Parts: sequence; structure tokens; C-alpha cells
Amino acid sequence: MCITEDTFIEDERRIMASNVRNIFTPHTPINNEDLFKGRTSEVQQILSTLNTPGQHLLLYGDRGVGKSSLAIIASHKIVNIANKKLKIKRCSKTDSFISIMEEALEACGVDLTLISKTKTSGISIKGFGLENSNSYEGYLNKANSPSWVCEKIKDENILLLIDEFDSIKSQEDKHKIAELIKLLSDSHSVFKIFIVGIAESAEELTVGHPSVQRCLKEIKLSKMLQREILEIINAGGDKLHINFTRDAKFRIFRLSSGYPHFTHLICLKASEEAIINEKAVIDIDDVNNAIEKSISDCENSLRQAYDDVFKSSSTIKTYRKILYAIALCWDEFIRAENIRLIYNLIFDESITNQKLNQYLSKIVSNSNDKILRRLAKGVYRFSDPRMSSYIRLVQSDMYSEKEEMIYKQIKSN
Ligand SMILES: Nc1ncnc2c1ncn2[C@@H]1O[C@H](COP(=O)(O)OP(=O)(O)OP(=O)(O)O)[C@@H](O)[C@H]1O
Ligand SMILES: [Mg+2]
Repeated sequence: MCITEDTFIEDERRIMASNVRNIFTPHTPINNEDLFKGRTSEVQQILSTLNTPGQHLLLYGDRGVGKSSLAIIASHKIVNIANKKLKIKRCSKTDSFISIMEEALEACGVDLTLISKTKTSGISIKGFGLENSNSYEGYLNKANSPSWVCEKIKDENILLLIDEFDSIKSQEDKHKIAELIKLLSDSHSVFKIFIVGIAESAEELTVGHPSVQRCLKEIKLSKMLQREILEIINAGGDKLHINFTRDAKFRIFRLSSGYPHFTHLICLKASEEAIINEKAVIDIDDVNNAIEKSISDCENSLRQAYDDVFKSSSTIKTYRKILYAIALCWDEFIRAENIRLIYNLIFDESITNQKLNQYLSKIVSNSNDKILRRLAKGVYRFSDPRMSSYIRLVQSDMYSEKEEMIYKQIKSN
């Protein structure tokens, strides 16, 4: 065995022993209340909505903003308070109304899995005769009907959490969920539905079904506040007995752009290095050193969208500056005048509106197929809002201490 392999194994051994990968978890939602930070008012809203007769819930927000973590933690609380059973369904593109409801129906005593078995084998199972198996087959069609499903589940004290709602491909199946929510609400059911998805989910649920709006409370999950991001860093640091210096924490906060996914990612990489080197303090240089490793763990879709900007461009330098200025805009609605202001403050040079527009025209579109989406004249949004963090990471060579001042200026505007 060569020395580098030995070193690697020893490093991994130390990392495993520290438990750091269960404390900073960029790739999995939080399901431990100890590590769940902030979101106090959102948890309260969720609890009161789901404890109100006739009310169901939709939680929506950007990718990686913390929807699943909040939904899981809040659901566990509600289950304890209201003595409910919790069923969690994480959807994928192949899911249908039946497959989404399958486990919940099973918890209510309707076993749909028996149907498919009898269907394919054509023989009775579990001692049921042919007559019985036919009646089971009948369930499959019935389970496609929201009113039939409502009748079967309405008296069960269950909370059904449907995550990744946006992955469901069929619009018809989404409408059936909306219909079911309305029916449950009308029948004063104790069965509650909690849907988690991206922004478009609300529209998809209610289009063609406006009456569902009355019984479906929508909560938008925003980016995390500075205080909340710092709480995540402090809590992880305390568990690991590692101290992040003040400068290190603020650097991580800026790099995260309000997305806890990036906070966890950078903290994890910096902490792993500290654990390997037996350091008890993480300072700003350690954070900067962790950036490279964090980038290599970022999602390919972000990398691709970013690289596309430079594919056919001969003015890489200016595009890098413009992208960096956009990434510092913080707001959801990025205005051309703010881009110019920040460009000027960071790089000590001005850019005319006309020149900026020329550059933007190649990277903006009205849909999500370019890095920026046009919302209105002179107002943009990153197609993937996490892009602001990604740009800060890959272009960290552009970091300037002036960012603190710019951040304050933008927040006070
Ligand atoms: N309140 C919180 N406290 C601490 N960490 C959090 C919190 N919310 C989210 N995180 C962390 O942020 C990351 C993203 O969270 P989560 O998976 O819940 O987001 P999401 O919005 O469901 O993402 P996606 O859109 O990819 O499904 C996770 O790694 C999780 O560990
Ligand atoms: Mg999620």
C-alpha cells in the first residue's frame, strides 16, 4: 500500500470518527431537530394551518432553500401534537395519483399492491378466491377517483407529506390531488395533505380548480437570513468543538447567498480539513481553501449553465465581472441599475446601460433556458437562483472587502 493511500485512509478514519458528515449535510434534508435552525415563524404557520379544520398546505420555494427540511421537522411536530400518523411520499416523474396515494390508502386498510399481483398472476392470493381477486382488481380503477379515495381515507388521523410535487409529470394527476384536497376539506376530514414543491406548484394545483385555494394555504419559503445561517454554522461548530472565527462565518454567509445547502457544503469541506489537520479553529483562509472542494461537489446543472455563458464568448473577462456583479445583487428581482451600481463599486469602473444590455442580451431569455430570465423590462432573475452562490464560489478570486458595504447599501434600499 502506498503512503498516499495510507494517508487517505487515516484521513477518512478521522472524518468518520468526528461524525462531521452527519452534522454538515449539504445533500440531505435535516431530520434532526437539534440541527434544524431558524424558520420559527414558518414552523408556527405550518402547525396552525394543519391544526385548523378544512385547511391543507402547500410549501413552495427555490431549489435548495430548505423546503424538505422544514416540512419534515414541522410534520414531526404536528404528528406529536395532534397524535397523527405521518406518511411521507417523495415524488418522481413516474408517479401518478394512485402511486402517490398508495401508502396512505394502505395505512387506511386498502392494500392496492394486492391488486397488481392478482392481475398479473390471475390467481387468488392470500387465500382469496377468484371472486375476491376480481373485486380487488376493481379497486385499481376506483383508486383513480379522488372521491373514492376521499371516502376511504377521510376518517383516518393521518398527515400525508407529498414532497417534490413538481416532479410529477401528469397535469391530470396533479389536478386529482387538488380535487382530493377540496373533497377532504368539504367532508371535515382529519386526514391532512401537506404539499412541497417549487413556485410553479401553486399554479399547477389551482389552475382549473380555483375553489381549492380556499382550503389550501400557501407558504413561500424565502432564503435564510444572516442570523439563521450563522446559527447553522455555530450549531455545527459546537457539535464538532470547532470554532469558526467571525470573519470566517461572514465569508460563509456571503458565499451562501441565503441557501443553507451552500452553508452546509462549505462548512463541511472546511471542517473536514480542520479535522484532518487537528485544528480547532477555522479562519477565513481555511474557508477560502475549502472553496475549490466545494465547487467540485456542486450540481452539474449549475456548472453547465455557468459554462454555457463563456462557450462562444470572446469577452470572458467582462462577462465574469458582470456575472459577479449580478451575483451580489442578493434580491430576487435583479435590476439593471443595481448591476451597474455594484459593477461600479466593486471594479471601480463604470458600465453604460447600452453596453450592459449588449452583454445581457446573450445570456437572458424569457424562459429558463439561459442563465438569466427576464421578468420585466430591466428586471431579471437567475433561472436557477442558487447560481448566485455558485458564481461567488467559482469567481471567489473577485472577492472584495467592499462586499460588506455593498450588502448593507442594497439591504437599506
Ligand atoms: N432550517 C435548517 N437548518 C439547518 N440546515 C438546513 C435547514 N434547512 C435546510 N438545511 C440544509 O440545507 C440543505 C437544503 O435543504 P433541503 O433539502 O431541505 O432543501 P430543499 O428546498 O428541499 O431542496 P430541493 O429543492 O433540492 O429539494 C440541506 O442540506 C439541509 O441540510
Ligand atoms: Mg427537497
